[in-house]
Amino acid sequence: MNKKHPITPLDFQPRVAVVRGYQVATAAAGPLTRLLDSADRDGVHLKIASAFRSYAYQEGVHSRLVSTIGQSTADAISARPGYSEHQTGLAVDLQPVDGTCALDPCFAGTPAGRWLDAYAWRFGFVERYTRANRHVTGYSPEPWHLRYVAVALARELRVTGTGSLEAFFGVAGGAYPDAGNAG
Ligand code: DAL
Ligand code: ZN
Repeated sequence: MNKKHPITPLDFQPRVAVVRGYQVATAAAGPLTRLLDSADRDGVHLKIASAFRSYAYQEGVHSRLVSTIGQSTADAISARPGYSEHQTGLAVDLQPVDGTCALDPCFAGTPAGRWLDAYAWRFGFVERYTRANRHVTGYSPEPWHLRYVAVALARELRVTGTGSLEAFFGVAGGAYPDAGNAG
């Protein structure tokens, strides 16, 4: 999913399981649990900030942002309803339990951000919105947003140094069809 590829059907609801109080797609639940447990054992204490979000929930989040910061700025940080990976249940936003750099680009430089950069792939998760791929995805960097793709693909992206799912699959992303070169 990206700005050129909405979810189908638009009201898709994944089967979910609960991990640390949050709903995630069943396929991602075990891997996410193991990632969080492994981080805890390394002294990196993470909590979930957001996981599965329904179409209706995303519609509320996005429309509030549009009304406060405008369409193009909102589109750079928040997916329109039907376009968020969170609706698949396979995306999760993580933040340090102590709140350091929560949902802020500075998270990348924290011990927790560096831990995820080094180890998230081992559990099948990729950092979906990086500084380097921002023009490919059309989103500002979100080092806290992980997408479950399973270990085989996460490893392949890692060893080939492929910076985005768009590049790996050769699909377009970047901007909504109505957004020209912006967003
Ligand atoms: N913040 C990400 C892009 C989302 O809204 O899905
Ligand atoms: Zn997210």
